[in-house]
Amino acid sequence: MGRHEGESKTVSGAEIIVVTGGLGFIGKHFVRRCLEDGRFVKNIDCISYAADRSVNAEFSKFKNYRFYESDICNLDFLPECDIFVNFAAESHVDNAITNAKRFCETNFLGVQRCLELVRLKHERERPLFIQISTDEVYGDIRDGSHTETDTLVPSNPYAATKAAADMLVQSWGRTYSVSWNIVRPTNNYGVHQYPEKLIPKSAWRMKRGMPAIMHGDGSYIRSWLHVDDTINGILTVIEKGSRNQIYNIGSTEERRNIDVLRRIAGVLGISENAAFVSVADRSGQDVRYSLDDSRLRGLGWSPRRKFDDEIIGIVEQLDNSRFI
Ligand SMILES: NC(=O)c1ccc[n+]([C@@H]2O[C@H](COP(=O)([O-])OP(=O)(O)OC[C@H]3O[C@@H](n4cnc5c(N)ncnc54)[C@H](O)[C@@H]3O)[C@@H](O)[C@H]2O)c1
Repeated sequence: MGRHEGESKTVSGAEIIVVTGGLGFIGKHFVRRCLEDGRFVKNIDCISYAADRSVNAEFSKFKNYRFYESDICNLDFLPECDIFVNFAAESHVDNAITNAKRFCETNFLGVQRCLELVRLKHERERPLFIQISTDEVYGDIRDGSHTETDTLVPSNPYAATKAAADMLVQSWGRTYSVSWNIVRPTNNYGVHQYPEKLIPKSAWRMKRGMPAIMHGDGSYIRSWLHVDDTINGILTVIEKGSRNQIYNIGSTEERRNIDVLRRIAGVLGISENAAFVSVADRSGQDVRYSLDDSRLRGLGWSPRRKFDDEIIGIVEQLDNSRFI
């Protein structure tokens, strides 16, 4: 990626945000919000299989948007910005279990590359580095909730690469005085999610008369966080967070996987017998995730969206999915 003509940090005086992975599920919702809020967004994405190509055309209509097609592992130039938000990642655990190499490259070495580009800037021009991490770095928890100071015990290769990246970010802060925040959201859901993840994949199958695939007995518990609540959480950290701090973004909407599938089946009017089949457990499956997000709530954030309400529109909108 080369230097671009007319790069300026003060385009219309707006705050400039570099986003990586801004064509992915959470990234594109974040980019849209920032554009609508009048921020200047520079989006770096390698357009992997998980990228939503059509959203780039939508964003390109905004004057305050630039797109750079690049792999963060090979990034040779960091556009000028006030804030750098790294969403880019390989994000699907099943893929990591099959082949973790690409996860190590993007999720670890890609973050190292981005941190270096920030460090190499003159101190006055360094952006705040926001790393989008995950609740999976803590591993699972049967009772109670993980706080930001808990030990990281990742259970699968995806979670391990994300945990390793968090360590890199903190060390670049300590050694090179790069200013950072790490945010750790729990399971996200919302419209236009790539249909490899539980909700869109299951609804997609059920809508076509195929049973959804359920790992084991479906007793695994996840907390469900609407993507808009995640975006609000990240923006709250940017606007009000203490620098060089980690913030969990949690949810009180805990569901067993089997109950998520039952809810989707209910929305579609499909009987439970036809709705899903059980397959062998995913290797290293986490039993339950739960986050203590009181640190973020202390900044005034709280989740607004209700899972049982939102899931109706999400399942119904699936036929308009950009991926199908
Ligand atoms: N989806 C969730 O439930 C969830 C929960 C917690 C944390 N996270 C984290 O949030 C971030 C975004 O997740 P998502 O679900 O939106 O991911 P996603 O898989 O939907 O999108 C990832 C995006 O990153 C891009 N990308 C991948 N590798 C890249 C590379 N090497 N260089 C440049 N771009 C690259 C892809 O093209 C894609 O547009 C990730 O860091 C993930 O670990 C996700």
